[in-house]
Amino acid sequence: MAGSGDAHLRSPADTLLRAEHLVVEFPVGRKGAKVHAVSDVSLDVRPGETLGLVGESGCGKSTTGKAIMQLPRPTSGGVLYDGTDLTGLDGSTLRKVRPDLQMIFQDPISSLNPRRRVGDIVAEPLRIWASDQHRPSATVALSERLLRVWGLASLAGAALVVALWLVGAVVPYMANDEDSGLSGAWDWISPTGGSLMFNGLVFGSIAWGLGNLIRDRVAIARRILALFAAVNVVLLALALSGVGSDGSKLLWAAGTLFSVAALVVAVLPASSRDFAAMVTVREEHDQTVRRVLSDVGLDPDTAMARRPHEFSGGQCQRICIARALVLDPKVIICDEPVSALDVSVQAQILNLLQDMKARYNLTLVFIAHDLAVVKNVSDRVAVMYLGKVCEVADPDDLYARPAHPYTSALLSSIPVPDPTIRQDEMTALTGELPSPVDPPSGCRFRTRCPQAQDLCAAEEPVIRSVGNGHYVACHFPLVTSN
Ligand SMILES: Nc1ncnc2c1ncn2[C@@H]1O[C@H](COP(=O)(O)OP(=O)(O)OP(=O)(O)O)[C@@H](O)[C@H]1O
Ligand code: SF4
Ligand SMILES: [Mg+2]
Repeated sequence: MAGSGDAHLRSPADTLLRAEHLVVEFPVGRKGAKVHAVSDVSLDVRPGETLGLVGESGCGKSTTGKAIMQLPRPTSGGVLYDGTDLTGLDGSTLRKVRPDLQMIFQDPISSLNPRRRVGDIVAEPLRIWASDQHRPSATVALSERLLRVWGLASLAGAALVVALWLVGAVVPYMANDEDSGLSGAWDWISPTGGSLMFNGLVFGSIAWGLGNLIRDRVAIARRILALFAAVNVVLLALALSGVGSDGSKLLWAAGTLFSVAALVVAVLPASSRDFAAMVTVREEHDQTVRRVLSDVGLDPDTAMARRPHEFSGGQCQRICIARALVLDPKVIICDEPVSALDVSVQAQILNLLQDMKARYNLTLVFIAHDLAVVKNVSDRVAVMYLGKVCEVADPDDLYARPAHPYTSALLSSIPVPDPTIRQDEMTALTGELPSPVDPPSGCRFRTRCPQAQDLCAAEEPVIRSVGNGHYVACHFPLVTSN
């Protein structure tokens, strides 16, 4: 099949991230057809290096980036991060490595949840990571569980009343039929059902909500819980003094029991210590989010409370960069971070990424379809075509002497700000990218290659050196070893 092979890989001891013979296939249709999105791609990145990954739309750049992140796991091949093969890790071990590897997704606006505030979006990775690291004490977990159990039971009770009502409405004769056995139950439910259902819904929702809130917003959850328990006690007292039905006595008795128990457990010294630790962690997260937002050029005071739709595309990209930085990663895969932005904002974001790379000591994989952008930011460039790597080189060398006919065509399609050079004098790339469901035999580029010969259809070229750290997968490269 453009080419396979791994001659361009450097010693594993020198590289931080290494993809070996990655294959990603997606099943399509019913007849066992597959999209060969990534076919035997090998790449590596040294610590502190920026690898540019370039190619036209649909060649598999994003799929390669996601396969490195194990989102989803590749069909086959290995991804070595700092010597560990990520493809062999189970879910929980992989979660421990995830903070080191972050991704900035292709479309900045759609990768941000429009309903959440920017402060919460950027803090989310920190909170998930912290909740993985910090298991709450037994007392906090018990308080949480009591509220959740009571919340669920009340909601289930309300749902049962609704179901019985429906039976009564749909099969009314059953309700009046002395022999059906349901009439007695119905007589009991009917007068009290409305209030039971309403109270079950309202109090069940509050209890469930408190169960979810108590771990994250302790202080406020405890105050609401105290009020909630007091209301339950008052309602129980009223029910016992004759106001309301037997059903409501049961509801308020159980509500009082669960809410008072949850409150008592939540104020025990062990819980208080745990809650105090959580507040400290929360404050630290807040500080980290503020620092990262200001590092990416956003004012935390105004940005944190706003939602993504209140920002421009360039600002949304800054938020995405902040979210990727917040866990202090080692590697960031930037998937077309500037393609949705206008030229002046592109320059700002590229500069920002360079600054962040230096400040956070990052290693980057920079995906783009624009060779001009990749040249400016990369230490090494890999060119992809239809799921394969066709050329790997230092950017200056790649631009000065492209060895693969595809790279040459891509370079000549970059607009030149010189009116004396006519676009039609340059080697234009003609034809459409073939379908990745049924890629061409031999070299995948042969259907569009001006140099193609019989051998190109028969044999897949294997990537090989043309000197000077420059590698190409072509039977008839435009440059040869010097
Ligand atoms: N989940 C999926 N199911 C089926 N096919 C997919 C899936 N994801 C990607 N593909 C296919 O895999 C191929 C590579 O897609 P990918 O998104 O990696 O391309 P790309 O190089 O990032 O393109 P672009 O520059 O447009 O973002 C395409 O043909 C695409 O249709
Ligand atoms: S010359 Fe042959 S092997 Fe080289 S890119 Fe063209 S088709 Fe592929
Ligand atoms: Mg993409």
